Amino acid sequence: MVTESKPKGQNITSADTPTAVITGGSRGIGAAFIRRLREKGYRIIVLSRSKGTCPEDDARVLWIPVDLSNGEDLSKAVKCLITETTRIDLLIFNAGVQEQFDFMEQEVHQRQQRIERELAINLTSVLVMTAELMPLVRQSASPAIIYLVSGTGYVPKLRSMAYSVSKSAIGFLARAVHRAAPDVSVIELIPPVTRTGMNAGRPGELAKPAEVVDEFFYRCRKLIYSQTQKEVRYREGSYNRIWIGKMKAFNILRIFKPDTAFRIVNKA
Ligand SMILES: NC(=O)c1ccc[n+]([C@@H]2O[C@H](COP(=O)([O-])OP(=O)(O)OC[C@H]3O[C@@H](n4cnc5c(N)ncnc54)[C@H](OP(=O)(O)O)[C@@H]3O)[C@@H](O)[C@H]2O)c1
Repeated sequence: MVTESKPKGQNITSADTPTAVITGGSRGIGAAFIRRLREKGYRIIVLSRSKGTCPEDDARVLWIPVDLSNGEDLSKAVKCLITETTRIDLLIFNAGVQEQFDFMEQEVHQRQQRIERELAINLTSVLVMTAELMPLVRQSASPAIIYLVSGTGYVPKLRSMAYSVSKSAIGFLARAVHRAAPDVSVIELIPPVTRTGMNAGRPGELAKPAEVVDEFFYRCRKLIYSQTQKEVRYREGSYNRIWIGKMKAFNILRIFKPDTAFRIVNKA
C-alpha cells in the first residue's frame, strides 16, 4: 500500500520544529492527537491505511499510507519514513484493532487469521518500529515514545483475548524500552472506553477522543513540548503510566478488588 510518490509538504519547517510520528492518525484518538500536535507546533508524520481526517491543507502534516498488518508494507513505510525525517521527537504508537469473539468458543470463523492480523497490527508492528526507528528517536535532544495501552491489558477481556494479550505485551514492551533506552521518555497511555470506531454501536456515555488527548497533555504538561516553552522539554529518561478519566479509579480497583475489575471488563 505504500506509494512511491513523494507526499507534498516537506521542507517548510526549520530544524528546530519538533517532529511527531503517529500510527493510526486517520480517526479516533489518533486524529485528536493530530489536532493538538498541530496547535503545539509539531511537524507530524501519520501512518495509517487511509488519510481519514488528516488535514489536506497543512504542509506540516505528512501521511504515509501503510497497512500495518502486512510485513512488506510495514518495511516500505519505515524506509519511506527514514527518508522523510532525520529525527523523531515524539513517537506515538496509536494504531490498533480489537476483534470480538469468545476465545474459548470452538466455532470461530477464521480464528487463526484474525488473531494473526490483530497481533500483527497491535504488537508486531510496534516491536518492529520501536527497534527500527530508535536511531531517529535518539537524534532528538529530548525524545519520548507514547504507547497506547488499555485497561484490558491489565485485566483480561475474554471476548477480546488477542487484543488483551497485545495490550498487555505493549505495556511490557514499554517497560523494556525504558530500561533499554534510558535516555528516552516512555509513556504508557491508558484511555477509558472512548467513543471511536473501535466502540461503534456501544451504548452509553463514553469519553470523547478530544477529552482523552486533552487530559493526557494536561497530565504531561511538564513532559510534552509546548510552543510557549520555546524548547522541547521532556523529563529525560522518565517512565510514566498515565491512566485517563475513569481509568484512574479502575487502576485502584484492579489492584484492590481484582474480581470486581474483571466483572466490569467482561460485563458487556
Ligand atoms: N477507543 C477506546 O475505547 C480505547 C480504549 C483504550 C485504548 N484504546 C487504544 O487507543 C488506540 C486508538 O484507538 P481508537 O479508539 O482511536 O481506534 P479507531 O478509532 O478504530 O482508530 C484506529 C486507528 O488505527 C488505524 N489502523 C487500524 N488498522 C490499521 C492497519 N491495518 N494499518 C494501519 N493503521 C491501522 C486506523 O487507520 P486506518 O483505518 O486508516 O488504517 C485508525 O486511524 C488503539 O491502540 C486502541 O487500542 C482505545
